[in-house]
Amino acid sequence: MSDHPDRLLDMALHVRGESRYVDDLTPPQGTLYAAVFASPAAHGRIRRLDTSRALARPGVRGVFTARDIPGENQIGGIIPDEPLLADGEVHCVGEPVALVVADTQRLARAALASVELEVERLPAVFDPREAFKQGLLIRPPRTFAAGDVEAAWKNCDVVVEGRVDSGGQEHLYLETQCSLALPGEGGSLKVISATQGPTAVQKSVARVLGLPMHQVEVEVLRLGGGFGGKEDQATPWACLAALAASRLGKPVKLVLQRQEDMRLTGKRHPYSSDFRLGAAYDGRLLAYEVTFYQNAGCTADLSTSILERSLFHATGSYLIPNVRATGACCRTNLPSNTAFRGFGGPQAMFVIEAAIVRLAEALGVEPAAVQEKNLLAEGDALPYGQRVRGCQARRCWLEARTRYRLEERRWQVAEFNRTHTLARKGLALMPVCFGISFTNQTLNQAGALVHVFTDGSVSLATAAVEMGQGVHRKLREVASRAFSIDRERVRLEPTSTARVPNTSPTAASTGTDLNGRAAELACRAVLGRLREVAAQELGKHHPERVEIREEQVFYQGKPSSLTWAKLVAAAYGRRVSLSAQAHYATPGIHFDRSTEKGEPFAYHAYGTALCEVTLDCLRGTYVVDSVEVVHDLGPSLDAAADLGQAEGGIAQGIGWLTLEEVLHAPDGSLLTKDLSTYKVPDIHFAPRRLEVHFLEDTENPLGVFNAKAIGEPPLMYGIGVYFALRAAMRAFRPDGELSLVAPLTPERVLMQLAGDLPL
Ligand code: MTE
Ligand code: HPA
Ligand code: MOS
Repeated sequence: MSDHPDRLLDMALHVRGESRYVDDLTPPQGTLYAAVFASPAAHGRIRRLDTSRALARPGVRGVFTARDIPGENQIGGIIPDEPLLADGEVHCVGEPVALVVADTQRLARAALASVELEVERLPAVFDPREAFKQGLLIRPPRTFAAGDVEAAWKNCDVVVEGRVDSGGQEHLYLETQCSLALPGEGGSLKVISATQGPTAVQKSVARVLGLPMHQVEVEVLRLGGGFGGKEDQATPWACLAALAASRLGKPVKLVLQRQEDMRLTGKRHPYSSDFRLGAAYDGRLLAYEVTFYQNAGCTADLSTSILERSLFHATGSYLIPNVRATGACCRTNLPSNTAFRGFGGPQAMFVIEAAIVRLAEALGVEPAAVQEKNLLAEGDALPYGQRVRGCQARRCWLEARTRYRLEERRWQVAEFNRTHTLARKGLALMPVCFGISFTNQTLNQAGALVHVFTDGSVSLATAAVEMGQGVHRKLREVASRAFSIDRERVRLEPTSTARVPNTSPTAASTGTDLNGRAAELACRAVLGRLREVAAQELGKHHPERVEIREEQVFYQGKPSSLTWAKLVAAAYGRRVSLSAQAHYATPGIHFDRSTEKGEPFAYHAYGTALCEVTLDCLRGTYVVDSVEVVHDLGPSLDAAADLGQAEGGIAQGIGWLTLEEVLHAPDGSLLTKDLSTYKVPDIHFAPRRLEVHFLEDTENPLGVFNAKAIGEPPLMYGIGVYFALRAAMRAFRPDGELSLVAPLTPERVLMQLAGDLPL
C-alpha cells in the first residue's frame, strides 16, 4: 500500500483484498473447525439427543451439547431467556442444539447428519397477533401517552383507521458470523469475533465458561458489515467456539456459511400495527393512537429495547398533541429477531406515514400538505416529554422542496400520468427525525486509550468497531485535529476488551459521538502535558499559551523552534507520560420508565427526501427514478464516509419496503434462505438519481467537532419510495382499497392493481 497517499484508506484495502476479516486470518496450527447442529423443529420437547455416532465420524474431535457447558447455559443480555445450546426444549427452526468439532470444516459439516435428535412437536406460533392473543409476551406491553386521545377524537373533523404490516429484513452483511477462539494459559481465552459488541461477547463467554471476565479477551479487527445483526447475535457463535476451545484446549474456528447465517440468525422485526389518526379539516393532526405488535421471535434478545425505540418514534417528524402508542413484544417460534439499522424506528415511522397517507386520502389533499402542516418546530415536545432543540425539520423540508423543484416535478408527474396509458409516476416526501443516543441510558458511555510513540506517531484504541461505516477514519480525524498533526501519524488499533474495557456495542449511530469524545479527552490529556514540556523547553512560564498548529509549536501565537516530533521526543526525555486513557458519558440524558417521560436523546438528526418512481402497471415492475435528500449533518468529519452512509442507508431502506421479503414455510423454516429467493437492491435497482445535500452550518454541541451522527437516519428515507410507489398505484387506480403492506414487491403491486381479477 506504500504507493497510496493514504495508507489507511479502507476502501483501497477492500478492493485489493487486503482487509483482514476473521476468516482471512491464518489460524494457528492445530486449529479445529466447528459446525452447528440446529433444530429442525419450530417448537418441541427434546425426547432423545444422541451424539455418539457423530463423535465416531472421521476427523471428529468433540461433540458438545447443553450438558457440556461448565458455566451457565445462558446468553440472554437483557432478559435471561436464551440458552446457548437447547436444553430440554427447542423454540425455533435453527436453534443451536449441538456443536460438532472436527479437523476440517468439511468433516465437521459431514458429521452433522449423524447427530440423532427426536423432538416431540408442540404447537408453534409465527404471527405476532396470534402470540398476543395467546398471551405469549416477552414483557407486558408499554404505552407512551401525551394529552388526552379519548377527549380529542370528538374534536376531529376526520378520523381514519387501519392496519399496517411491515416485513422482516435480512442483514446480508458480506461477512457472515464468524469467530476464532484461542485458548491461552491457565484457562484464559482470546476470542477474535466479528461482533459489534466485544464486551457483550466477553461477558457471555465468561458466563458460559464460568470464568471471570478478565480471563477472556475479545478482539475485533473489522467487520464486513454488521447493520445491527452483530450487535447481539455475534455472541452465540463466539461462545460456541470458546466452549469448544476451552474443552479441547485447541484453537477453534466457527464460520457460518451464507445459508446457515440466513437460516440461523434473526432479522429486522416484522411489525403488524393498528392505527387511528384524527385531524381538523385544515389537516392539523389532533390525535393518534397506535398499537405495535412486534414479532420478537423466540427469545428477548434486544426486542424490548427495539420496541422502546418504536415508541419514541411513533409520531415520526410530527407534532401531535394527543397520542397513545402501545407496543407489545410478542414471542413467536422464529429465530429471535434483532437490531437492524434504525432499531424499531423505521417500523414506527412507516406506520405514521401510512396513517397520514390514509388521512390525506380522506381529506382529498396531497399527503405532503398534511406532512408539512404538522412538522416539528423548535421547542416542540415529543410525546415522551423531550423538547426538540436545534430542530431542522422544517428547514430541511423547505430546502428539499425548493432545491428539488417540487412544484415543477408535481406538474411533470401529472403530465406524465395524463399522457400514458400503462405507466404511472408517483412522488412522495419523507421527513426523518431520529433520536441519537442509546435508548438504554447506561450504554451511552465510551472509553479511549491513546499512546504517542517517541517518533511522534500515535496509536488510538477505543470501543468503536469498524464495520464499513468509517468510524476509524473519523476517529483518526478526531485525534489528528485534537493534536493538530497529520492524519497519517494516527493509527487505530483493533478494538479489544483488553485495551478499552466495559464498552457498549458500536450501535445506535453513536460510534463516533461517544468514542470520538472519549478520544478527544484522552488526546487533550496528553496535549496538556506536552504543553508544559513545551513551555519548559522554550524557557517560558505559561503552558496555556502553547499551541500546536499543523505540527508546529507556537508560543503566544508565534512559531517556536519546536515541532511535534521534537516536542514528543523532549517529553520522553523528561520522563513525561505520553499515554492517556479517558472515559466519556453523554451528559444530560435521562428517562423514567415509570412515567415514560424524560430526555433520552442527546439530540435528533433531521432531513427530508423527495422520492420519485415510475411504475409499469401492466407488469407491476417499477423503477426508482430519484431519491433527493436534504440532510442535517453539521460539519462533516469525513465527507466520503458520510455520503456513503447516506447512500447505503437509503438503498437498504428502499430494499426493506420493496424487494426484500422474508418468507417462512408453514413449519417455520425459512424459505428465502439464499440470494436467488431473497432479492436485495442491486446497482440496477438503485435510484437512477441519488442526491444528498448536507446542511453544514447547524450546531450540535453534543457531537464531535459539531458533527451529527449519520449511521442510521438515512435508512428511513427509503420509506418515501414506498409511498411514491403507492402514489403511482393510486394514479392508476383512483378508487378502491390499496393495502398498507410492505414489502411492496412487484408481485404485490400487480395483485393490487389487478384488484379482484384472478391472476
Ligand atoms: N455502514 C456500513 N457500511 N456497515 C454497517 O454495518 N451499520 C449501521 C450504520 N452504518 C453499518 C453501517 C448501523 S446499524 C449503525 S448503528 C451504525 O452504522 C453504527 O456505526 P456508527 O455508530 O459509527 O455510526
Ligand atoms: N440502538 C441500538 N442499540 C441499542 C439501543 C439503541 O437505541 N438501545 C439499546 N441498545
Ligand atoms: Mo445499529 S441497528 O444500532 O447496530
